[in-house]
Amino acid sequence: MIVTLTVNPALDRTIALDAALRPGEVQAARSAREEAGGKGVNVSRVVAAAGVDTLAVLPLATDDPYRVPLAASGISTVPVPVARQVRTNLAITDPDGVTTKINLPGSPLSGADSAAVVHAVVEASADADWLVLAGSLPDSAAASFYVDVISAVRDRRGASAPRIAVDASGPALHEVVAHGAVDLIKPNDEELAELLGTPVDGTSPEGIMDSVRAIVPARVAAALITLGGAGAVLVTAQGAWFAVAPRIRVVSTVGAGDSSLAGYLLADRAGADAAARLTSAIRYGAAAASLPGTQVPTPADLGHHDISVRSI
Ligand SMILES: Nc1ncnc2c1ncn2[C@@H]1O[C@H](COP(=O)(O)OP(=O)(O)OP(=O)(O)O)[C@@H](O)[C@H]1O
Ligand SMILES: [Mg+2]
Repeated sequence: MIVTLTVNPALDRTIALDAALRPGEVQAARSAREEAGGKGVNVSRVVAAAGVDTLAVLPLATDDPYRVPLAASGISTVPVPVARQVRTNLAITDPDGVTTKINLPGSPLSGADSAAVVHAVVEASADADWLVLAGSLPDSAAASFYVDVISAVRDRRGASAPRIAVDASGPALHEVVAHGAVDLIKPNDEELAELLGTPVDGTSPEGIMDSVRAIVPARVAAALITLGGAGAVLVTAQGAWFAVAPRIRVVSTVGAGDSSLAGYLLADRAGADAAARLTSAIRYGAAAASLPGTQVPTPADLGHHDISVRSI
C-alpha cells in the first residue's frame, strides 16, 4: 500500500480556444475540462493504474466541486473535511499550443484543519509501505508542516512506520532534509540547486552526485534527481547511478515528475535493485511526457526503449 498526502490540491481547469487569446475581447471557447490536480493525487493515480493499493489523503470540503473530477479519477481517497475550498488553476490554450496560466489564490488551512490532516495521514499509514508527501504547502502552513507529519506518523507507528518519500521544493523541502530523516527525496535540478544553495549543472551526473553527497546518506537515505529529457540520477548510501531518458515524442510533460516518483516506488515495492528502480522512474516519466495533458501512464504505456544505467 502506498499512501499519499496532497495538502494543497488544485482544481485544474483547461479552456481551449479556437484562436489565439485576445485580451480585452470576448471569445468563444471550444471546450473546457476539469481535472483533480495535485502531486500526491497524481502519484496515487499512477500507482492505482499499476494495480497497487493506494490511498490519497487530502483536505476537501464536503461541497467542494473538486470532488467531481477526483471521483472520476477512480482512486481511493481519504478526504479530510475542511472549511476552505480547493484553489483553481486556470489554463487557456490555443491551437498553436500557446498556454496562458492563471492561478487563483488558495484560502488558508486553519490550524484545526491542519491537525485533522495530520491525524488522517497517521491513521491511513497503518498498512503503508510508503508514505508520499508531495507538492506545495498552503500559504498558511509552517514550512515545517511535512516534518510535523513525519514525526506524528513515526511516533504512532514506531517500527512499522512506512518509509517516507518527499517531492517538495523551497523551505518545505529544506526543513524535511534538515529534520525529517526521510527515505527518499525527488527534486529536479532546479529544486536541488535551491536546496543546496549551489548551482547544479544538469548535464553533469558526476557533478550532481558530488553535490548530493552533502546530504545523502547523512540527512536523507536516497535522492532521485530528475533532469527532464536528460534523464535522472539516483544517489543512495550504496552508490550512484545515471540513466538517460529515451527519445520520445513529447506531448505534455505535466505530471512527468510525479509519474517518475511513482515508477520508482512501484519498482521498490517489487523488490527491484537501484538500477531497476531508476529505470522504472525513467520509463514512467517518459511515458507520462508522451501522453496528453495529465493522463497518467499505465504499465501498458511504458515503452520498450533500452534504458542504459551507468554507475557513477
Ligand atoms: N522531454 C522528455 N523526454 C523524455 N523523458 C522525459 C522528458 N521530460 C521528462 N521526462 C521523464 O520524466 C522524468 C521527470 O521529469 P522532470 O525532471 O521534468 O520532472 P519535474 O521537473 O519534477 O516535473 P513536474 O514536477 O512538473 O512533474 C525525467 O527524469 C524523464 O524520465
Ligand atoms: Mg517535480
